[in-house]
Amino acid sequence: MSKPDGHVEGYQRIRLVPGDEIEGHDRAGVAERVLPKDFGGASVLDIGCAEGYFCFEAKRRHAGRVVGLDISTKRLERARQIAEKLAAPVEFVERDFMAMSDAELGRFDFVLCLNVLHHVADPVGMLHKMVRVARRAILLEVADVGYRDVAESLGWWQGIVKLLPGALRPGMIVPNRKGQLFFTRRALRTILDQDSPEVEEIEFMRSDRRHRYLALVRLRWLESLSLLSGTSSVGKSEILRQLRSGDPEAARTVGVDPAHPPTIVNAIQVPKRLTPGTSRVLMHYDIRRPTREFWDFSSYASDPVLRLLGRSDKVTVYVLVCTPAALVSRVRDEQPSRPTAARIAKHEQYAQELVGLYSTPGAVRALYEAWCSFCKSRGCELKYIDYTTRRPRLVDEEEAYRILGQPIEQTT
Ligand SMILES: C[S@@+](CC[C@H](N)C(=O)[O-])C[C@H]1O[C@@H](n2cnc3c(N)ncnc32)[C@H](O)[C@@H]1O
Repeated sequence: MSKPDGHVEGYQRIRLVPGDEIEGHDRAGVAERVLPKDFGGASVLDIGCAEGYFCFEAKRRHAGRVVGLDISTKRLERARQIAEKLAAPVEFVERDFMAMSDAELGRFDFVLCLNVLHHVADPVGMLHKMVRVARRAILLEVADVGYRDVAESLGWWQGIVKLLPGALRPGMIVPNRKGQLFFTRRALRTILDQDSPEVEEIEFMRSDRRHRYLALVRLRWLESLSLLSGTSSVGKSEILRQLRSGDPEAARTVGVDPAHPPTIVNAIQVPKRLTPGTSRVLMHYDIRRPTREFWDFSSYASDPVLRLLGRSDKVTVYVLVCTPAALVSRVRDEQPSRPTAARIAKHEQYAQELVGLYSTPGAVRALYEAWCSFCKSRGCELKYIDYTTRRPRLVDEEEAYRILGQPIEQTT
């Protein structure tokens, strides 16, 4: 085995031409198991790329833009030399992934992070950051809790844990004596949160290396996402009924092509109703959601379903408005479904609360202002629909706020 231009052996074994290789770990088995056979022009980011084995392999498998990121000057120097020899157009960047902003990183279809998690101080933050950066999938190789130096933390429990197959180990993140963190599969699954709207599914595979495993994290990426948003009782359900019954005016107003209808979901049904492969989604969203006491988030920024806003090529937010007087009268007209004495009492209390809010001068407008400014901060396109007459009508922003700000006396 030869080495390129007098360099020492690397982390990865890389074949330059038949009979000419640099020495290191044989990573071919992992590549075979975890990389797509054909990237079909997709972009790839390899975090902790070392000498660039997986970058070259991605290029060989028809990837489009490939970026290899590493903090080691020496490894990247070698990677660049090999790239030249292989005539492989890979961008090698000497940066710490954790120190780069999401904007600097941009987005990649595939993100690779093999054997790097236990080298960073905040591996959980790293996983979440990878979810933000990746469109389609994250490919991971992770150090499990079997290492000898982890025994210090686990004590004799390590014997028991090691007896269990990887898939049956409980959710644990265990430090070794240097403070590096090791994850069981179940811990990784919980952190990536299978219930989050971003993760479609996680597939675990065995690695060639001892005490390591591979994880293929498939992410949700939508062709289009529309939100039908508005406050409680503004008429979202009614518009959806009109849509479902094939009303062409409703379909036109909320941009639905009847030949390719979207999957309609309520925020509460996300992510369960979003099966893998769903590509067009219309989600209805009550903009009072963060104020309802039964959810454990208190702002739009911390509402997990709104993370979907960052996971589509095209996001349109339809903002359904009507006059405060119309809101009050709709709340008063509503009846609980399947009325029992307890339900009626609960509904009355809820209706009173809403009437109080909608009758407070400026409150409805303020509620919508907070929602729209959040959506704008996420770069969403906003479209306003006046629903005062129960026939949807597109209006501009100025008109929408004029409707929302109408004093109640004027219209009652
Ligand atoms: C164990 S090697 C793994 C190399 C390669 N991913 C593989 O599995 O064949 C870890 C690599 O990650 C790099 N690394 C560690 N922390 C990093 C960070 N925060 N950002 C970018 N690279 C990092 C190291 O310099 C090293 O080259």
